[in-house]
Amino acid sequence: MTANAERAASMEKIVALCKRRGFVFPGSDIYGGLANTWDYGPLGIELKNNIKQLWWKTFVHRRRDIVGLDAGILMHPRVWEASGHVVNFNDPLVDCKTCKARFRADHLIEERLGKEAAGLTPDQMSEIIRTENPACPKCGNRTLTDARQFNMMFKTTIGPVSETGVDVYLRPETAQAMFVQFKNIMATARVKLPFGVAQIGKSFRNEITPGNFIFRDIEFEQMEIEYFVRPERAAEAFDAWLDAMKAWVGALGLQDAHVRVREHEQAELSHYSDRTLDFEYFFPGPMGWKELYGLANRTDFDLRQHQEFSGEDLSWFDQESGTRFLPYVIEPTFGVDRTILVVLLDAYDEEATVDVNGKADTRIVLRFDPKVAPYKAAILPLMKKPELTEIAKGIYDRIQTETDLLVDYDETGNIGKRYRRQDEIGTPFCFTVDPDSLDDGSVTVRDRDTTEQDRIAIDDVVSWLSSRVR
Ligand code: GAP
Repeated sequence: MTANAERAASMEKIVALCKRRGFVFPGSDIYGGLANTWDYGPLGIELKNNIKQLWWKTFVHRRRDIVGLDAGILMHPRVWEASGHVVNFNDPLVDCKTCKARFRADHLIEERLGKEAAGLTPDQMSEIIRTENPACPKCGNRTLTDARQFNMMFKTTIGPVSETGVDVYLRPETAQAMFVQFKNIMATARVKLPFGVAQIGKSFRNEITPGNFIFRDIEFEQMEIEYFVRPERAAEAFDAWLDAMKAWVGALGLQDAHVRVREHEQAELSHYSDRTLDFEYFFPGPMGWKELYGLANRTDFDLRQHQEFSGEDLSWFDQESGTRFLPYVIEPTFGVDRTILVVLLDAYDEEATVDVNGKADTRIVLRFDPKVAPYKAAILPLMKKPELTEIAKGIYDRIQTETDLLVDYDETGNIGKRYRRQDEIGTPFCFTVDPDSLDDGSVTVRDRDTTEQDRIAIDDVVSWLSSRVR
């Protein structure tokens, strides 16, 4: 395990870099922000799209057993009764009687009292809070209430008049639509067990959070798969998904020492789950190990519930044996925003160096895997002279028209500063057009990680780059 002290990354540095370079901005910034909301800027949206596309390619396009779905955020209110969210999707919260701030009771017990809170009931948490009487993290007074359950779903109303409208919820997970549309997919997609349905989309949870950047938002994106299997094959499918998720973590380029898999104890399991594993990431600072992804055996809980609540037969007819049964579901689930956060934390590096005047300096580098880097390369004319910018723009245009690789073009400022900017936004390669390019038809290519430079022919740039970043 990498000790925190050895890591260049800290949450504060990542938050500052994200704002400075346009990855992630605080939501509603000019109005003073809105707690736990974040907006992805010009580079953040490229990073996010690259991650989502890589996930879709890996789990949908490259597999013949998974089909896609893009369902609505608003669903029939009965969906959330059937799923158990109306009754079970609660956070245990405590209030401070003095300053009126509100906190998650389990987080307070873990972070302030250093005790394990997973699986405790609200009564057990209240007992600990009464006995230990911790100070309010905001005002310091020892005036915390008992823990009470609050439902985390956001409610809104369909219809112009709230009194006569229908109360609906913003979905708190993408998963349910895959169960609700199971029958339509069975009827149209020519699927055979085992098969999966994948979806990427927004989810909403009324989270009370200590503000760990995009780790826990109230509006976030999930990439989820519901994988339908014969009940007797569920354990085997679970193991296969564990391997597939490990391979995904490897493809993102995360360091092995920063990721571990933890089995949920019985008391910690969600109401729908028979077995759950968390992929945990070792966050810098006080956060330490926290959930990144989850893998659950949801049994036939969801299909059984929706069958009962909707009155529709959701069973699978097995041609071979002539029998009907409800398939079991293995669910690998991935948070998009958490993926972005760990990719940033893992890629962040600082290198001691000297500037052009020989003074000590620090080079900040995001060592992104080229697959997810927002820009795959930057095209830089050494000087802003028409004969150089014309060649540079020609290279840029060729890459944009002949490939689907996004590259940057930058002609302003000194070349050292432009390299540093590209290092800090994680661009793997810079192509520099200089006066020699006019004579020898080649450019300098600089490697982000080593800063080594080489010359390559302008005609080879497209194929050279394509082979390096795929
Ligand atoms: N369908 C199962 C489900 O939603 P979950 O553990 O509640 O399970 C799945 O969420 C994943 O979604 C988490 O592992 C995490 O990556 C992400 N996630 C959950 N809540 C989040 C939040 N408030 N902000 C950002 N990501 C979140």
